[in-house]
Amino acid sequence: MAKAVRIPGYVHGGDYNPEQWLDDPQILEKDIEYFKKAGINEVTMGVFSWAVLEPQEGQYEFGWMKDIIDRLYENGIYVILATPTGARPKWMADKYPEVLRVDDKGHRDFFGMRHNHCNTSPVFREKVRLIDRKLSETFGKHPAVLAWHLSNELGGCAHDCFCPLCQEKFREFLRKKYGTIRALNKAWATTFWSHIYQDFDQIEAPSSVGEPGLHGLNLDWRRFVTESTAEFVQAETEAVREGGSDLPTTINLMYDFRPLNYHRLAETVDFVSWDNYPQWHKKEEALTALDAGMQHDIMRSLKKEPFLLMESCPSATNWSPVSKQKKPGMLPAASLQAVAHGSDSVMYFQLRQSRGSSEKFHGAVIDHYGGDDTRIFGEVTKVGDALKAVAETAGSNTVSRAAVLFDWENRWAMEDAAGPRNSGLFYKETVQKPWQALRRMGLNVDVIDMLQPLDGYKVVALPMLYMFRDNYADKVRAYVEQGGIVVMTYWSGIVDETDLCFLGGTPHGLMDVMGLRSEEIDALYDWENNTGVPVPGNSLGIEKTYECKNLCDLVKISGAEVLMTYGSDFYRDMPAFTFKRFGNGKAYYICADFEQAFYDDVFARIAGEAGLKGILDEIPEGVEVTSRETDDKEYIFIQNFRRDKAVVKLPEGRVLLGSEGGELAPLETVVVSRDKKQ
Ligand code: GLA
Ligand code: ZN
Repeated sequence: MAKAVRIPGYVHGGDYNPEQWLDDPQILEKDIEYFKKAGINEVTMGVFSWAVLEPQEGQYEFGWMKDIIDRLYENGIYVILATPTGARPKWMADKYPEVLRVDDKGHRDFFGMRHNHCNTSPVFREKVRLIDRKLSETFGKHPAVLAWHLSNELGGCAHDCFCPLCQEKFREFLRKKYGTIRALNKAWATTFWSHIYQDFDQIEAPSSVGEPGLHGLNLDWRRFVTESTAEFVQAETEAVREGGSDLPTTINLMYDFRPLNYHRLAETVDFVSWDNYPQWHKKEEALTALDAGMQHDIMRSLKKEPFLLMESCPSATNWSPVSKQKKPGMLPAASLQAVAHGSDSVMYFQLRQSRGSSEKFHGAVIDHYGGDDTRIFGEVTKVGDALKAVAETAGSNTVSRAAVLFDWENRWAMEDAAGPRNSGLFYKETVQKPWQALRRMGLNVDVIDMLQPLDGYKVVALPMLYMFRDNYADKVRAYVEQGGIVVMTYWSGIVDETDLCFLGGTPHGLMDVMGLRSEEIDALYDWENNTGVPVPGNSLGIEKTYECKNLCDLVKISGAEVLMTYGSDFYRDMPAFTFKRFGNGKAYYICADFEQAFYDDVFARIAGEAGLKGILDEIPEGVEVTSRETDDKEYIFIQNFRRDKAVVKLPEGRVLLGSEGGELAPLETVVVSRDKKQ
């Protein structure tokens, strides 16, 4: 058991900004009263408090924070304390303009917004170190404080910094990585279009008014920005450690955030947390739940440990084109979905709604009206009650025997590639298909990257692994040899880690494992499609024809069994889906972008052959089933995201939450605890 923070049961709380109400002490008292009513046991403080904590350079005013933390603690409410580096004070920007970012055209930003400092600036680093250390000295040993929330949504809503300091640091990064300029030129293929560099000093970051099209440069820039962000997180961690606190640290990550490699950032913190804002009711809730579910799995898989849901909205956000209210029951269902996928918390942005500025209409537990007799407060209270009912499940682990690969660096390279389809490769959607198929069987699924181990998984889906880095082919080969089952798709093993195309055939290094070579890849217009037709008597027992779109790989077979063939076009009757035994394992190759029904059918068969059994035998469409476990107990979460009732056969055990009979109302969650079979 690896609990993220030390309190028993679940953390229920969220972002709290009492510095906005210092002139009205009544507010704090009311808040405390309401928090207790709603079962709120935590507040996240200080996220944007820098200008109040240090109103003048070097003049620290922490008294107000101390009073509030003391008062909260007296009332049994804990604090996750933020370092305030999500937004800096105006005096700093005025006195030290180098803390402001420069855009890719070389213009320095004015003061404003947030998350937009130059992380490289020595002045900024020093100011951060001083305030973080002081906060740690003052509050690091306070019994109310549970953890450090470092900065806020790093990289969110801001462009990268292209200032001279960052450019120089980038060049240092490259010097260290490549050693010689010759090696860099080779890795980036700079002879193309006469881009050869004579010296590292000549290199500029990618720019819309300079070099946007050198793929190796673009990739290394994203790696550099990730590294420099990781280094910033490490520097903040060191500062709080210098101040004497050894409390765990986290950073709050975001939904489907491309620019920073979260696997690297996760290494810099003690536990992962993230901010989840699905647009519920935009489409069927069951579909939104699938999307949110995969994000939860991505976040949990970063450390393969329980994470915290750091932010979510109790009602409607205010930043989407249409900010819809959550219908009754949606908040508890969405909150418990995080828990079902491995969260040890339900936390909101925000506990009390601010009066002015750009988030004054963002949903909150306590709104401008200020009472506890609102519908939303009632929904939050229901979440609080549910978390108490399932308290014993907090800290339990998610065990997955199936995994899907989703790799940030692969995504950067593939989406920048200028290849067969620049109008939509659908990488995330393609990852989602096997994930969804496995989830529909009621299996827990990890979503891992290329650096994570494959041991322990029975089935691994490898969708669109365009880039093989870190000798990935060898890893896959060893895994299959030892009995693993892989399902790889088209457009895999095409380039190495600097985006140079592999020579000699693809999927590089795995042609013998797959028993084929990809010879051509056909891109389809949006309105085109093809089909995969089962080969009679195929060993997987597929009997139906399925539609495919977007990309069709035309492969030459060398030892694989053809399970399906294309139904039309000049490649009619050529392989569309293949299988090969290799070593003790099995290798499947999906040649085209097939519809979900294909994935559902095929993965049910493959996982079934591998002996993987879902948590429940039969799961109605729109019902999510996951499990968490301890050494001796298994907790089964069943959630009905349908718009009508769902009937399931409940597993035997003790019902901790929800109705007993197996009939789940729309948006109902049932949690069953059972002893593990020894
Ligand atoms: C993000 C931020 C919060 C707030 C919310 C609004 O998650 O971290 O400060 O702006 O969005 O949804
Ligand atoms: Zn900079």
